[in-house]
Amino acid sequence: MAIPHEVIEEIKYRNDIENTISQYVTLKRRGKNLVGLCPFHSEKTPSFTVYPENGSFYCFGCGVGGDVITFTGLIENLDYIESVKLLAERSGVTLPQDGYDDSMQKLKNRIYDINRETAKFFHEHLMSEQGKWALQYLLGRGLTLKTIKQFGLGAAPDSWDSLINRLKEKGFTINEMITANVIGKSQRGTYYDRFRKRVMFPIINIRGNVVGFSGRAMPGEDKMGGKYVNTSDTPVYKKSENLFGINYAKNNCSEQIILVEGNMDVISLHQAGFNNAVAPLGTAFTPEQVNLIARYTKEIVLMLDADAAGQKAIRRASQLLENSGLNVRVVVIPNGKDPDEFIKKNGPDRFKALLEGAVSDIEYKLLMAADGLMLDTDDGKLKYLGAAAQILSTTDDVMTRDIYIGRLCEKYGVSRTALTAKVEEYRKQNRRREQKQVINDVIRPKYTKDDINPERRKSVKGVAAEEMLLSILLQHPDYIDYAKENLARDKMLTDLNRRIYTCILEAHEDSISPDISIFAQSFTAAEVGYIVSLQNSNKAGNIVKTVLKDCIKVILEENTLLNFSSGDDENVEDWASKLQEIINIKQKGNE
Ligand code: UTP
Ligand code: MN
Repeated sequence: MAIPHEVIEEIKYRNDIENTISQYVTLKRRGKNLVGLCPFHSEKTPSFTVYPENGSFYCFGCGVGGDVITFTGLIENLDYIESVKLLAERSGVTLPQDGYDDSMQKLKNRIYDINRETAKFFHEHLMSEQGKWALQYLLGRGLTLKTIKQFGLGAAPDSWDSLINRLKEKGFTINEMITANVIGKSQRGTYYDRFRKRVMFPIINIRGNVVGFSGRAMPGEDKMGGKYVNTSDTPVYKKSENLFGINYAKNNCSEQIILVEGNMDVISLHQAGFNNAVAPLGTAFTPEQVNLIARYTKEIVLMLDADAAGQKAIRRASQLLENSGLNVRVVVIPNGKDPDEFIKKNGPDRFKALLEGAVSDIEYKLLMAADGLMLDTDDGKLKYLGAAAQILSTTDDVMTRDIYIGRLCEKYGVSRTALTAKVEEYRKQNRRREQKQVINDVIRPKYTKDDINPERRKSVKGVAAEEMLLSILLQHPDYIDYAKENLARDKMLTDLNRRIYTCILEAHEDSISPDISIFAQSFTAAEVGYIVSLQNSNKAGNIVKTVLKDCIKVILEENTLLNFSSGDDENVEDWASKLQEIINIKQKGNE
């Protein structure tokens, strides 16, 4: 691959890292830098840091890091070339036409093509004589033909190879079909259609591409494979990052989005005019989905089943949403119905009323806390107020706390001072817990340095010197020449640091200064994170040259020692010359 470095520079210049990341993460200024809650792992206290000075970011919690291009790739689930393309597009930079490898993009395009063809195939089948069973079923559930067409619903034939044959005819290979996860391979080595005799719901992403499918068995026929069969993750689809219906909802949800549980709920609501409904795809609600929603709307209404599982899901979701900046409201549907059933039975107006009666998530939690308590006894009241104080302690908004404290005091006849004190007590506790969490996040990152550089243990001292050296070169490129003259690449002790060093030297030979973009393509996300952390660690102070010299000295010493101990120690001459080498280095270092 080779997108010219100048083009990368131009793209980075035009896509300011602070602005770009702010579109996804709420950032607060802290000195020269900005901090926020990491979008790549779930955390309560910000350890995600943006360094505008050198255009990089790093999360002290999970260890990911990089530049604006890496960030875009991670958050939009794109590979490097795709993120470059996206940022180029956003900022009006024209990319050179060819000369870079876009094999991943080509594969993705093939999968999009397969999915489109597959959706077409299922839809045609639904509309054909043989697909009558499925059409009857959908019409029987109250969907109109218009809705069926709008969502591109379909039917998978009761056959093991119809889709394979169709896709073969269209020129797709078995490998491509497997990668798209529309076919499977049996133990005997034969291939079969994954979706058979099912009503098919295509899953469409925000850009309007079909990325996967969800197939529902006919009632009573879900013994084989379960009620729903879904596409597993593919190069174009991660179920934890998509939401069913988002392709329509994204244009209708500037005020509010409704989160329901199932595909049928989404479709039913859209048909009834509530075209801002989405559903997770057979998974629990994830942080990635929260981020996706937060990009399009201000408020989320959780509308999950009234059963125990639904209630648990609401609690989990509201926890995930705590720091999203979204306003959270909750609707409990009466009589254990799901939204689809409710709207069919009661009509859109009653549904609208239900929606308008949505309570804030605090109110919802306060309601739930009363469950099972005898509020007419002193003991019950006390327990309830304790639970309520705990709930109120989780909101940072002092006005919100004040309003509910007022209401509770009036209702249960306690003094404001007492309840406020109780809430404050819990807030202190929470803060202590959060502080502990920060410490844990920092000392136990997702990738430890040992994971990233498995050779670290080889020489703790030597590796520390390597890291310091790299850190200096990343921050003070004027010393690269000095390092180059005094430390050959093959003297680096560990493979990872040798690769980083080599990359720095090679870029320097091409007169490119070592910013993060030079690493983005040949290093993993965790490795890039490590490099960014080196780039932003500031320990050398203003005696850079001295420290650099020391580092080189230590690396060379450790080198010799390591070779010495693992070498062929039968050879006395070798011994002697190695010893001499160490002495020379020591003397040189002391000069
Ligand atoms: P439900 O069982 O509530 O189904 O599962 P539903 O959406 O109400 O469907 P109908 O109304 O019975 O036709 C809710 C969601 O959980 C996922 C699906 O995404 C479904 O829409 N699910 C459920 C699965 O992925 N696999 C299953 O086996 C069951
Ligand atoms: Mn249902």
